[in-house]
Amino acid sequence: MDRKSKSTNSSKVQKILEEFQKDLNEGITNIGILNDEDLYKTELEKVFVGNWNYMAHDTEIPNTGDYVLRYIGDDAFIVNRTDDGEVQVILDICPHRGASICRAEKGNSSHFRCPYHGWTFKNNGDLLGAPAYKEAYNGLDRKKWGLTHAPRVEIFHGFIFACLEENGPSLEESLGGMSWYLDMIFSLQDEGMEVLGEPQRYVIKSDWKIAAENFSGDDYHLMTLHKSTYDIGVMQIPLKENMKGYHIQAGNGHGVSFSIDLESEDPLFFFYPEEIVKTFNLDNLSEKQLELARGSRVCVGNIFPNISFLMLPLSPDPKNVPPTPLFTWRVWRPIGPGEIEVWNWFFMYKNTTEEFKRSSYRSAMSTFGIAGTFELDDPVPWEAMTKNAKGTFAKKNMKLNLQMGMNNIGSSKQVTDWSFPGIAYYPRFEEGNQRHFYKRYLDDMLKEK
Ligand code: FES
Ligand code: FE
Repeated sequence: MDRKSKSTNSSKVQKILEEFQKDLNEGITNIGILNDEDLYKTELEKVFVGNWNYMAHDTEIPNTGDYVLRYIGDDAFIVNRTDDGEVQVILDICPHRGASICRAEKGNSSHFRCPYHGWTFKNNGDLLGAPAYKEAYNGLDRKKWGLTHAPRVEIFHGFIFACLEENGPSLEESLGGMSWYLDMIFSLQDEGMEVLGEPQRYVIKSDWKIAAENFSGDDYHLMTLHKSTYDIGVMQIPLKENMKGYHIQAGNGHGVSFSIDLESEDPLFFFYPEEIVKTFNLDNLSEKQLELARGSRVCVGNIFPNISFLMLPLSPDPKNVPPTPLFTWRVWRPIGPGEIEVWNWFFMYKNTTEEFKRSSYRSAMSTFGIAGTFELDDPVPWEAMTKNAKGTFAKKNMKLNLQMGMNNIGSSKQVTDWSFPGIAYYPRFEEGNQRHFYKRYLDDMLKEK
């Protein structure tokens, strides 16, 4: 691209963003921010490089030598455990000529050998040698030609994150108030969580922001989009009752939403059966975390930019099987303008019976698995929105509404005596979490680099 068209594109991006910024103060967005090639490129550079990205879970690579292949935007990384037990995130590019060195999605290996000319690396990334080394490379400074590591890697309760910028906030700082809520979920058991099965992957023609804002706090869509699934009784909480709860802007663009009954006489704990609740070590939780967990029915959230999660009890077969809690954790990996590869993991607390894990997995697969009753619903409007964003007239003119719960629209109000982290609204007929998401999006996108 020549310099002139490059600067035309960046001023076009700037114009879209500045207009969006003005509109967002009024709770308005516009369809033009979706599915735009220039915005997408800027997002990869400004949003995904600078933030913490989820890569894998400790339990996916339990043994030394274990590895999985993962992605941040359009870059591929090997996430592995070295002989010292250390977790590394290594760019899957051979420094000789740039071929990919990892040819499987997962495995166990002490070394990686590039298929092109055979440069061979230890699994910590060091260059060990190459075919006909003496003749070909005698004198090469091998230390300089190892594999490239992600600049920063941090692990939170077994969840491995990487950041592609050397400097910036730590994972904990970046999670802000969200770390408190995640800590509440992950600390319920001393043993933490483990992955169930393989992550599911599938491609949909949706802008990543639509999925992220949906999980940050769009409980409202359940009443229409998921009504048919809901009506067959997959969950024991009536729809309107389920809207009783909080939307929490957890800082830095993160949003979390709880269906909750803080006054409940019986402890709820997401409806985990008593034998599972017995395995929880409630001393791990602060008094306030315990108060929240005790009244929780459903928790759904998005960690900015594109990591979403959901804990709730669902039944795979309402007439015959009671709802079982499940935990889905997903990444909306952008793979092009208006296109994502969905990565979907299911987790369960480690110290539970195989039978319980199986029933949680069954509930998860039948509802939020690739062919799940809920999972199939969402791409329909998401893809339509993404497609509509390409309309020549729509792109320029179509404004969208994000005003629920602001300026006395609707019934939701800010909870003035909220004693947990973040800013909360009650009930969940509210779109403040989405506005919070987009505010952070704009901060990143308008940042000088
Ligand atoms: Fe890897 Fe040549 S590109 S050895
Ligand atoms: Fe949905």
